[in-house]
Amino acid sequence: MSGTSESRLPVAVLVSGNGSNLQALLDAASKPDFAAEVAVVISDRPGVLALQRAERSGVPTAVVPWPGDRDRDAFTSSICRAVRDHGAEALVLAGFMRILGREAIERFPNRIVNIHPALLPAFPGAQPVPDAIAHGAKVTGVTVHFVDEKVDHGPIIYQEPVTVRDDDTVDTLHARLHEVEHRVYPAVVDAMARGALTVEGRRVTWEGM
Ligand code: GRF
Repeated sequence: MSGTSESRLPVAVLVSGNGSNLQALLDAASKPDFAAEVAVVISDRPGVLALQRAERSGVPTAVVPWPGDRDRDAFTSSICRAVRDHGAEALVLAGFMRILGREAIERFPNRIVNIHPALLPAFPGAQPVPDAIAHGAKVTGVTVHFVDEKVDHGPIIYQEPVTVRDDDTVDTLHARLHEVEHRVYPAVVDAMARGALTVEGRRVTWEGM
């Protein structure tokens, strides 16, 4: 399939902050053979760099403020509405620090992906890079997975190891993890958009890999 605008899969990218993975996706989507287009960038926080990156690329943005844990369902509905309003058919979580509720998982089955800077199921949660260093791990890495209702838990699409060096700090290690992320995430989104990912239970196969 060629990446013409008619055949591209429109995706919503969900962010909370810096957006370097968003930038990698925007750069990939600017190439004609990329199978997805970024239809909207949605943030739970106003004013973040990720929103500026989207605006610089001429991509529509939406802010859905996080209302607190008790209103997760209403938050999820608002996200789903913003996704639908922009015609997106899949969700790409890129440094999005909130947990989506059931409505999103049910509306977009095997159409929500997340990237996590650790080799899941090791070091899930919000601090995977400091956790890996504190644990003394010799190897950590990057995981891209489908999102289900549990945190950092859905079927794994791709993993790549990254060695932890003796003199690594959180910053130096996260910088090397980011390099991997920026290469890997666009490739996974492209594969999803081409229909190259098949899910059976927890096992994901990537045609052509
Ligand atoms: C990345 O390391 C990603 O794996 C994690 O949050 C970080 C976001 O970085 N979920 P950025 O906002 O894409 O620069």
